[in-house]
Amino acid sequence: MKKHQHIIYSLAVVAALAGCQQESKEASEKQQNAEAATSEVVTNEVEVSKAETVVRKKHNPIDDHTYGNLHEVDLKHLDLDLTVDFEEKSLKGFVDLSFDRLKDNVSELILDTRDIDVSKVELNKNDQWIAGEFELAEKDEVMGSKLTIKLEEGVNKVRVHYATQPQASGLQWLTPEQTDGKKHPFMYSQAQAIHARSFVPVQDSPAVRITYNATIRTPKELLAVMSAFNEPDTALDGEYHFEMPQAIPTYLIAIGVGDLKFKAMSDRTGVYAEPAILDATVAEFDDTEEMVKVTEELYGPYRWGRYDLLILPPAFPYGGMENPRLSFITPTVIAGDKSLVSLIAHELAHSWSGNLVTNANWHDFWLNEGFTSYVENRIMEELFGRERALMEQSLSVQDLRQAVQDLPTEYTVLNVDLKGADPDDAFSTVPYTKGQMFLVWLEEKFGREVFDAFLVNYFDHFAFQSITTQQFETYLKENLLDKHPGVVTDEQIHTWIHEPMLPEMMPNPTSDAFEVVDAKTKQLLSGEITLDQLGTEEWTVHEWLHFINNLPAGLPQDDMMALDAKFKLTESTNNEIAHAWLLLSLKAGYDVVMPRLQDYLISIGRRKLIVPLYKQLMETEQGTEFAKRVYKVARPGYHPLAQATLDEVVK
Ligand code: BES
Ligand code: ZN
Repeated sequence: MKKHQHIIYSLAVVAALAGCQQESKEASEKQQNAEAATSEVVTNEVEVSKAETVVRKKHNPIDDHTYGNLHEVDLKHLDLDLTVDFEEKSLKGFVDLSFDRLKDNVSELILDTRDIDVSKVELNKNDQWIAGEFELAEKDEVMGSKLTIKLEEGVNKVRVHYATQPQASGLQWLTPEQTDGKKHPFMYSQAQAIHARSFVPVQDSPAVRITYNATIRTPKELLAVMSAFNEPDTALDGEYHFEMPQAIPTYLIAIGVGDLKFKAMSDRTGVYAEPAILDATVAEFDDTEEMVKVTEELYGPYRWGRYDLLILPPAFPYGGMENPRLSFITPTVIAGDKSLVSLIAHELAHSWSGNLVTNANWHDFWLNEGFTSYVENRIMEELFGRERALMEQSLSVQDLRQAVQDLPTEYTVLNVDLKGADPDDAFSTVPYTKGQMFLVWLEEKFGREVFDAFLVNYFDHFAFQSITTQQFETYLKENLLDKHPGVVTDEQIHTWIHEPMLPEMMPNPTSDAFEVVDAKTKQLLSGEITLDQLGTEEWTVHEWLHFINNLPAGLPQDDMMALDAKFKLTESTNNEIAHAWLLLSLKAGYDVVMPRLQDYLISIGRRKLIVPLYKQLMETEQGTEFAKRVYKVARPGYHPLAQATLDEVVK
């Protein structure tokens, strides 16, 4: 197994190198364009407002969410040496950054940082460390602080000594009380989209691919894991070593530290979790190996060695995060009946769509999430059948239709223009489900056989590269459209990728099971049948969700009460059902749920589940009061990102 892995790694490195060469050629072309653009900004300066000038000037030609001089310096490898200090909520130590120069006379290395204290910079010259000069710029709210390091002739490695600050946007520091076991602290990172810079000074762009090694020092009783090779039976000794020999974008650098135990699910899959939830987790996710196998059958080999899961505390602001070799997962999907395991399919799918083929910048995010949502659903279909896959598509599309009504029009475009905005602010279901429906549409047009073969080649062709929407469009045209002329038009493709809102041609997935639910709901609401005749005995979680989501918003109290009495919805332990029911209850003014709602909001930090509830609460005066009171208690337990989102909602 080990030997085999090494072969895969070296192939990967070759592929990555090839990718970089191509990227750097592209980079220099883009740089020329950018230089032209920059002079334009300067000449236009008098005409645009001052604020706008600043915004335009900070844009990077390749990725406008990094200060990094990607066109001059090609970052290759990081060596991290960090101590995890729970007392001070700080990672302290140094990082060595190794790089190639893309031009002659490169005089500086420019990195991204946010809320990082830099104490010293050293340059590696003739194998000796010598003092280096650096400048840390003032902080920009979206981008953080630019770190400029002066280079000398012949220097291709620098060492930055630093410490992170407690409010680092990419880290969450949890007290023992905030963990399941209540005895030990916990710390984990969430780097996507632009938060790696808050715990590692780096050119923080998905266009940059690096390998890394790390030494992590922790309190002795805790275990550290990373998005790298993790040794499942490593000794607990407070010093852990990691190697990530495959080139990954910086948003996939990840670390978790806590009272973690490991349990294998197969030779190459396993779970890291706090001891008390380990068995329940393994029972819930024991289809993981099967998922890896079916994805390999569909889209080619899994190229990352092991695939493990790290179960985080419920404060984790996302459902999951596809950190390579080690997906980070919310415990809120451990439902006891595998009803929410599409999350695992999703994070695993990123091992192809995202980690292997990555968006070059955050305007191309749909390339990551649209493809992943599509692949996720194909995995679910293989494992759980077409009906479940269609139900999941249908639920997502209903969310999407709702979401586009509330979004600024420009954020409904797949290839979105972020205009210097924080990528977190543009986050929505659009890149996910509109992207997925685009691919479902292509699949329907060209047929599964042709489209599957196309995707296998796509993943292989761009493996270990970061690509733009433009590159995808060219590849699509050459390898699908032109090979099967007359099936779809260039205009249709353009509409999907560059036009706002949802196109008429968008597929409308329906499921037989949901049609039955709809018919029954209609009868119930018109009084033709009673609750007893609704036929819920065999309903899956998905049917329940569809049912609740499609009940009218203003049901009378008596009806809400009757539903609750019969189906115990307020007490549902399924977090998705509870979410849907609590939201409906708020819309109906059904106050019985308030204590349950309070518990829910205090115990869960996953943004998708809690933000809509807070927003709904803010619609009424009474709700606002409740929201403020609960938020005050809940806020310290939330991740910095959820805090930032909710600070804007609960005012
Ligand atoms: N990569 C995302 C999470 C993410 C996106 C973090 C953007 C930061 C910025 C992850 O793969 C994801 O999509 N998670 C979803 C899962 C769901 C669609 C199954 C989530 O967290 O809800
Ligand atoms: Zn995703």
